[in-house]
Formats: sequence, structure tokens, C-alpha cells
Amino acid sequence: MTVTIIVHGGAKTISDDKAKANITGCLAAVKAGWEILQQGGDATDAVEAAIRILESDPTFNSSIGATLDIEGKVYLDAAIMESRDLRWGAVAAVNHISHPISVARRILEEKSRFLVAEGAERFALKHGCEMCEPNNLISEEQQQVWEQERIPEDRAATVGCVALDRHGNLAAGTSTGGLENQPAGRVGDTALVGCGLYADSRGACSTTGDGESVIPVVLAKTAVDLLSSDAASADGSVSCHPEEAAKKAIEALKQRVPGEAGCILLDRNGRIGWAYNSQDMAVAYMSEELQEPAAFTCKDDHLAKI
Ligand code: GLY
Repeated sequence: MTVTIIVHGGAKTISDDKAKANITGCLAAVKAGWEILQQGGDATDAVEAAIRILESDPTFNSSIGATLDIEGKVYLDAAIMESRDLRWGAVAAVNHISHPISVARRILEEKSRFLVAEGAERFALKHGCEMCEPNNLISEEQQQVWEQERIPEDRAATVGCVALDRHGNLAAGTSTGGLENQPAGRVGDTALVGCGLYADSRGACSTTGDGESVIPVVLAKTAVDLLSSDAASADGSVSCHPEEAAKKAIEALKQRVPGEAGCILLDRNGRIGWAYNSQDMAVAYMSEELQEPAAFTCKDDHLAKI
């Protein structure tokens, strides 16, 4: 078993001028999570720490820099899950919370459940989480996108992280501002266990993309199921490589629904895989087997390296 962490900055088109910011942001996130894992810390802590970095970076569509809905308002969704006792926590439709992933984490600790809107914000306040005004979450770039009523080619996308610690706990987390110009009241896949994220004793997965496509194929659970899909693994042992399982999960989505999506996948041995049907997806990872973290905006760059 290899202690490992992998993060994504969303399935999207990454224009040349934004490639560096995507790489830098994903590397910073992976380093924050790795510091915890390296010291023998917990995968759930590592996932929370990594996603907090991405939530603070306006390059990504989560918390600061989140996309605006059709009314020009920002709403955030996030969730976290761990393989240990299948605990999870989720929040949606919040806009007074600086780090929704940390509120999801507090929910996981208290009692697994999904809290939305004012109820989630009251929970966050009661538990000492960092609160903010909705305007503090709106970046200049996203305000301009909304004012110009355009869906940019290099759309902002959901962030996520999966990790395996030395005790064998697997964790997955995902955080988003939803889709540009989404209808008021819309909530996507990100905070839905099985769709936006999943973790059990076989593996952990975080997804990104159009929620309307990710939800009906239950993308994160589908990817984890594919890890143990071979007949030889009827006993539950992991046999399919995460690279293959991630590819199959995205292929299954493509066959059945339109829309862009991506996923990062980690098995209980610490092997990683990722796949997407968008043009790019920013990914960074680190493991005990590496000297330093690796980061890519495009799968071809990764494949060229190995
Ligand atoms: N995957 C983000 C959303 O559809 O809301």
C-alpha cells in the first residue's frame, strides 16, 4: 500500500494563459494534503486541507471564484466521505461560508447528513466555521462573465481530492460553485454521495463536470465499482487498475448522456487513475513513490512522461 493524494481542478478547457495558474493551484493543494499524510495524518484531514487551498484560489470554481447563477448570485456545494465506517457530510446552496468543505467535514464528524441553505449556515456558525458575505466569494472575472451574459470557452469547473493514508483510510472530497448561469435553486452532483464523490474500502473517487450528466450515471460510485468489476474479484479484492476503471466510467457516461465530465480515482493500494471527456483537466498528485508532486493540465502530457 502506497500513501497517495491526487487533486483535480475540474474538467474544462484550459486556455494557455490559465495553464500556469491551474498547475500552481493544484500543486499547492496537493502539497497541503501531502504534508498531513507524510506526518502520518488522516486522509480525511488531507482532503479537507487540499480542497481548502483550491477553495481560496479564484482560478477554480469553488468558494472564492465560484460561478454566478442566472440572478448573479453565488451558491456553493461541497461534500466529503471516508471509507472508515462510510462516514460522509454534505452542504449545498450556501453563500455565507468561506470553506464549505470544512463545514461538510464538521457534519461528517457529528452525524452523516446533507444540510442545505440557511440550515447549513446556522450549523456552520454554531460550529465556529469561517463565515463570509456572499460578495466576498465573487471574483472580478466571474462578475464580468455574468455581466456579459456569456458562457466562456474556458469554463470554470468543480475541484476535488482523494487520498489514502498509512492506516488504510480512503477519503474523497468535492467542492463547487455549480454551473455558469445556472437557474436559481439548481443544485448539481457535487454534494451527492455516489455522484460527486464516493469512498469505500475498495477506493475513492471525486468527479467534475455537468451535474445533469454525472447524476444519472452515478459517476463516482460507478468508477469505484469498476475497480472490483472483474469476475476474479468476486471476493471484493481490487483487480482493475484505477486508470482503466476511470476510463471505463467516463466511457460509460459518454455512451449514455451528453455533457462533459471527469474523475480522479484511487484504489486501496494507492494506485491512481483519471479520465475526462473535456478538452483538459488539471490534476496533481503525490505519493511515497515520488520525489516530488507531479501536475498536468492534459492527460497527454502525463502519458508522455511515463
Ligand atoms: N459538477 C458541478 C455541478 O454540476 O454543479
